[in-house]
Amino acid sequence: MLTNLTPQPADKILQLMQKFREDPRTDKIDLGVGIYKDASGNTPVMRAIKEAEKRLWEVETTKKYTALAGDPAYGDAMVDLVLGDAVPRDRVAAAATPGGTGAIRQGVELIKMANPDATIWLSNPTWPNHPSIIKYVGMKMAEYRYFDDATRGVDFDGMMADLAGVKAGDVVLLHGCCHNPTGANLNMAQWAEVVDSLQKTGAVPFIDIAYQGFGDGLEDDAAAVRLVASSLPETIIAASCSKNFGIYRERTGILMTVSQEAGNKPLAQSTLAFLNRQNFSFPPDHGARLVTMILQDKVLRDDWMEELENVRLGMLALRTQLAGELQRLSGSDRFGFLAQHRGMFSRLGATPEQVERLRAEHGIYMIGDSRMNIAGLNEATIPVLAKAIIDTGI
Ligand code: LMR
Repeated sequence: MLTNLTPQPADKILQLMQKFREDPRTDKIDLGVGIYKDASGNTPVMRAIKEAEKRLWEVETTKKYTALAGDPAYGDAMVDLVLGDAVPRDRVAAAATPGGTGAIRQGVELIKMANPDATIWLSNPTWPNHPSIIKYVGMKMAEYRYFDDATRGVDFDGMMADLAGVKAGDVVLLHGCCHNPTGANLNMAQWAEVVDSLQKTGAVPFIDIAYQGFGDGLEDDAAAVRLVASSLPETIIAASCSKNFGIYRERTGILMTVSQEAGNKPLAQSTLAFLNRQNFSFPPDHGARLVTMILQDKVLRDDWMEELENVRLGMLALRTQLAGELQRLSGSDRFGFLAQHRGMFSRLGATPEQVERLRAEHGIYMIGDSRMNIAGLNEATIPVLAKAIIDTGI
């Protein structure tokens, strides 16, 4: 039987991670996978996480199962973090998942249970694992225009024209903030237009929010998801704690549904629990417990917010420095978009051949579509990257 298996396509992001590891050059620069790195290239455990782990070790007396949807306190804390008081809590169902990817997977399965004929619309481009999971689960998908190659901003007219053609009951997957892979985001006036469009077509928004706190701040980054959830009858939300709590390997995510009315919530909640049971039974608890402890404790929460804000401001400073260096070297403003983009990523707009040259000739690793992880830079490597970009004719 096992001989019948056929090789599956490799994930481009993970493939690049492997290539980088194997490269013997000592001055190589990793702008690949979306992991935050400080100026020394380390991905530290955040202070509040360390402290919560210490406290947890002291107070935890059992490792017995929690609930299928995870500890309800985690659900409450995360609903509060993502949605604030935008929608009444009795309309929101929530289940812990193994990371944001787990939330996406469970969300797609939920959509399949509710409407197997739905088409899931994805931004072009999007995180490559979105289409991969949707295809694997066996749902139809389509793309809406999103990125304008010329301006490196959002092709908003194209996006709105494509969203106007979405059918009632279809699902539109939107990045809540810090678009991955482009770094180009909608402003709030544009989000309001997206809401209008979804209202008109009767499509259901499915929001992936994996970088809350990395763009314009914890509250501002949640503004779009809150607007959508409070304006439309139904919203599905996949959130991740991997990046903003720096707990990548703990696999800490959550899937939320906002139902039309409170009466729908028990069905949504029991379906989320059922889906967890089918796929992995109880979700991982360690990361979720740390997040809950931090969000519930004022001192820990303040410290976490301060560290997260420093991470965000650090990435913004790197963006400004890189855009400035490129302006100096190119004598033009054509790289100004780097300072406008938000989050961990920017799509540079280089061809795959140019990306390959950056890797082969300069040891600079970015994803083939020219997505760069800004957090992979520091003050010393920015001039190196900027010179390589100009030398490569980008
Ligand atoms: C990324 O886009 O690099 C991250 O979300 C990591 C991943 O799992 O792909």
